[in-house]
Formats: sequence, C-alpha cells, structure tokens
Amino acid sequence: MHVIKTVSELKQCLTAFKNISFVPTMGNLHAGHMALFEEAYKKSEGVVFSIFINRIQFNDSNDFINYPRTLANDVSLIKKKFPSAIIFHPEENELYFNHSPKEFALGKVVEDLCGRSRPGHFQGVATIIDIFLAMINPKYLFLGKKDYQQLCVIENFCKIYYPHVTVIPIRTIRDANNLALSSRNNLLKDKTKAANLYKILLQASQAIKSLSDIQQQTKLAKEQLVKENWQIDYVEVRTQKKLTHPKDNDKELIILAAVYCEKIRLIDNIEFCIE
Ligand code: PAF
Repeated sequence: MHVIKTVSELKQCLTAFKNISFVPTMGNLHAGHMALFEEAYKKSEGVVFSIFINRIQFNDSNDFINYPRTLANDVSLIKKKFPSAIIFHPEENELYFNHSPKEFALGKVVEDLCGRSRPGHFQGVATIIDIFLAMINPKYLFLGKKDYQQLCVIENFCKIYYPHVTVIPIRTIRDANNLALSSRNNLLKDKTKAANLYKILLQASQAIKSLSDIQQQTKLAKEQLVKENWQIDYVEVRTQKKLTHPKDNDKELIILAAVYCEKIRLIDNIEFCIE
C-alpha cells in the first residue's frame, strides 16, 4: 500500500495503471467509505483514495476545526482491507498552491437546499474535485448518495468540465438504527436519537408515495423534528434527477433534510417513486 503526500509521487505511481478509480474522502473512514472503496475496486485495479479535509468547502471555521481527524486509524483500516490501495494525503500547499480560484458554472441547484445555508460550499467542493481530477485523470469517480446534492452538483460539473469521467453513485450505508453513516456522527452523544431523522423522513416519503400532499407532509416532518429539539435547516421534496421542485407528473422524487442535532449538522435523504 502506498501513502503518498506529493503530486509528483502520485503521478509517478499512477503510470502503472490504464484505468483509475478515484474515491475522494475527508477521512475518518467508516463502512460508508468502505462501500465506495469496494465498488471502486470492481471497476479498476488502480484505486486512489484521497484523504484531505478541504478547508475551502467549510463555510464555518469551527466545523472545519472540529472535523474528526483520524489518519493513523484510516490508514490501518485501508491497509487491512485494501492492501494495494494508493492513499493520497497531501498537505494544503501541495494542492491549493499554484491554483488561482476559479468560479465554476454549477447552475441554480447550488443556491438551493444545503447551498442556502452554506454559501460557497459547492464551489469549494468543485474546486477540490477539479484539482484532483486534473491530477489523477481517473476514469471513474465514486460519490455517496448520502450527500445527494453534492452528487448532483458534481455529476453536472463532470458533464461540463470532465466529460470523460464517469461518476458512480453509491447507496447510503446506515447503522442498525438506520442512521446514515457520516464522519460527523462521531461527534454525537446520542446516535439512537439522531436516527429519528431517518424515521421521520421515511414516514413522510411513504405518505407522499400514497399520494398525500407534499406540503402537508414536509410540514408534519418539520413539526416532529422540532419536537426532538432539533434546529431545522430544511426538509424538502425534489425530483431525483435535477433536484427541481416536483410538478404533478414527476414520479421519481427524493425527500431531503438537514438538521442540527446536538449542534451537529446532519443530512439525510430517501429516494422514492410515486406509483
Ligand atoms: O463528501 C466529502 O467528503 C467531500 O465533500 C469531498 C467529496 C471529499 C470533497 O472534499
């Protein structure tokens, strides 16, 4: 297994492979990441996992400071499960240096949902993905569906800027209580309570599936979240493909939410279809 810190070493190492799968992460690895890694190996022999906490996608500096950092554990976990992996763990100046900030055309979707309360977040994500894709030149890019809006934004971004890269979405992995796995969960004291987010979204999605009114169900979901003493950022229903507001004939929908539970920002979503 290689742990690489510099771009020149990385480029050297990648010459051995025809096709590369790339899995970007911010570390603090869990079973959700492992699912991404496993799928990445199904597609190519050369698999790069980046571990890099991308400062420029954090609109709140405390969130950046408190983000869990567990590099030694992450590396030993990968070593056990994926001994041939290439781990790219660069210093900030290795990546940001030489890159003047660009403004990417990310469309209106970045002003909605998480983009409303996290201005600049998706430009920050697109910037680091741009830097990585230019360096690694992967054939496949793996992203989790838990960050569904990020997935949509980066899919669009790749269509425009990296059309030769195929984005592969991977299902959300959940714990025994159905709490979506996330590095931020390690900051929670009560994970069982946090799992109520999924239960509330599931109830709402099932009711909407049975043709109950979307507005009414999202309002009900919000009332239940307030009862949990959580601060709500949003609970919304959108179309799966473009995250637009659903029209009467849209059948493939998704309910998405962001809440602050014990001051920790949690996001989750459930895709569903109206029969
Ligand atoms: O989803 C994440 O962990 C990050 O947004 C990503 C894609 C690794 C970019 O920093």
